[in-house]
Amino acid sequence: MVKLTVNGISHDVDVEPDTPLLWVLREQVGLTGTKYGCGVAQCGACTVHVDGVATRSCSMQVSDAAGKQITTVEGLAVNGAMTKVQQAWIANDVPQCGYCQSGMIMAVTALLKEKAKPTDAEIDAAITNICRCGTFQQVRAAIHAAANA
Ligand code: FES
Ligand code: FES
Repeated sequence: MVKLTVNGISHDVDVEPDTPLLWVLREQVGLTGTKYGCGVAQCGACTVHVDGVATRSCSMQVSDAAGKQITTVEGLAVNGAMTKVQQAWIANDVPQCGYCQSGMIMAVTALLKEKAKPTDAEIDAAITNICRCGTFQQVRAAIHAAANA
């Protein structure tokens, strides 16, 4: 049994300790906003925050997340009030198919906590998530919009 805190709620999950955090979030906790893309920490579709740090949950064992604060995309909005990143995403029509977007939003949210107004170079260095629909220009525009909101 592993005790997890996800979006402020405690969960006891009965899984093997080496189960990837991503599977536990989706299958045991029931939060499917976090997506599976590559499974090998390359694409970023599975990005969540672990103690505030953007983390690729496909490649973290659930036992390593025990006792830490995990935030998924479902935990960003408070009482239905979207964050400035989420609002910028809508205003800039970022998503196409949407599959990569929750991971993008989690990665960008963590970046803007560290750097309130990142340059294009800093965005390129920090946001390495892959989007098969090619929304990279819209992602960049939305990051600048959120930074200036
Ligand atoms: S599914 Fe985790 S990085 Fe691709
Ligand atoms: S919006 Fe389709 S993969 Fe990024």
